[in-house]
Amino acid sequence: MYKKLNIILLWSIIGFSCSVDPEIKPQLPVENIRQVVPEGWPSPVYTYQNNPLTEDGFALGRSLFYEKMLSRDNTISCGSCHQNFVAFAHSEHKFSHGIDGLLGNRNAPGLFNLNWNTSFMWDGGINHIEVQPLGPISNPVEMDSDLNAVISKLSSSNKYKQLFLRAFGTDSINSQRILFALAQFQGMLYSYNSKYDYYKRVEVGGEMNAQELSGYNLFVQKCNSCHKEPLFTDYEFRNNGLSMNPILQDTGRAHITGSPSDRYKFKTPSLRNIALTAPYMHDGRFNTLDEALNHYTSGIVNYGTLDPILQNGITLSSQEKADIKAFLLTLTDYKLLSDERFRDPN
Ligand code: HEC
Ligand code: HEC
Repeated sequence: MYKKLNIILLWSIIGFSCSVDPEIKPQLPVENIRQVVPEGWPSPVYTYQNNPLTEDGFALGRSLFYEKMLSRDNTISCGSCHQNFVAFAHSEHKFSHGIDGLLGNRNAPGLFNLNWNTSFMWDGGINHIEVQPLGPISNPVEMDSDLNAVISKLSSSNKYKQLFLRAFGTDSINSQRILFALAQFQGMLYSYNSKYDYYKRVEVGGEMNAQELSGYNLFVQKCNSCHKEPLFTDYEFRNNGLSMNPILQDTGRAHITGSPSDRYKFKTPSLRNIALTAPYMHDGRFNTLDEALNHYTSGIVNYGTLDPILQNGITLSSQEKADIKAFLLTLTDYKLLSDERFRDPN
């Protein structure tokens, strides 16, 4: 739990004792840097087995996540497109603009509970949390750099020499260490403290009203087969009946497998923190949850790979839609948003 007093105390201790390097601002105290498996959740896929989790490893990963030197012209960090205050999605951006203002063609998902991901990206094109950052670092419309360039920039920084020394015992900076540290930071972005979670754990703050409960019931009947509790995704690739954008022609999973039966399938996204992560769907086509709900009742198209569960769409009255929406709003984790450990330390 969050102990305000301890933080204040630690702050003052760090404040007085930290005169090592003027470039390093005192790191915020890192409490609870440890693996979490909330009760009733499946075992995580990533368990830090070869990448022991430490406070210094996390602190380095945090600095790197917000480090613009990871991009070719030092203008873009991971945090530019994955913003803390919207559960690490990109606020109000259908597509993210990366380097030189160039636009990508997919919507930036929120980042949380990544240790459970069986794959990464909308099409599952990356299968390990430790290699995932190579995607954005080298993507020509995101950071347009490469690890060698990043390593040489970081190596000329005293601040990073010290951070690597603390995290790994020597100040040598290499790709594996960069990727390990980013995995430590990203993996700590746990989200399991929403009103819904408090309700499930019968804790203070978990009192759901009649509408939210009705929405929860409907959700379990109509949505849970894909957006499966408690992570609100089954991590499968499915076609939920979106019409194809004729300009982007994004075939999703088929990009990776080459199989026609995977056309237009995308990874089921988690609906945790969904109130914050608009716009919605892989291409950010819907601005509101109402539009997303209307899609399921009246927007489904079938190009042959439509998920069998959605063959007839989903029938919902407007009251039922309102109830489901009320339930979806209980999935916002304000603790994730206010957690100081995840802020830009620079
Ligand atoms: C220019 C914007 C941009 C930048 C910079 C960026 N990302 Fe992303 N990120 C995205 C988009 C867009 C996607 C979805 C891409 C796709 O599915 O093809 C994504 C996907 C991801 C995912 C997959 C999440 C999931 O659930 O599958 C992770 C993890 C991630 N980014 C981490 C990072 C890290 C770490 C960095 C920095 C090294 C970074 N991103 C930099 C826009 C960005
Ligand atoms: C057959 C599986 C399936 C069912 C049933 C289903 N969904 Fe989805 N949902 C998906 C997939 C797959 C996507 C991602 C589609 C894409 O972007 O191409 C998605 C996307 C979404 C999104 C956008 C999420 C984001 O981060 O952009 C919302 C919101 C959503 N679904 C809500 C619901 C609700 C509410 C229900 C029940 C009324 C429901 N879904 C039923 C598979 C399903």
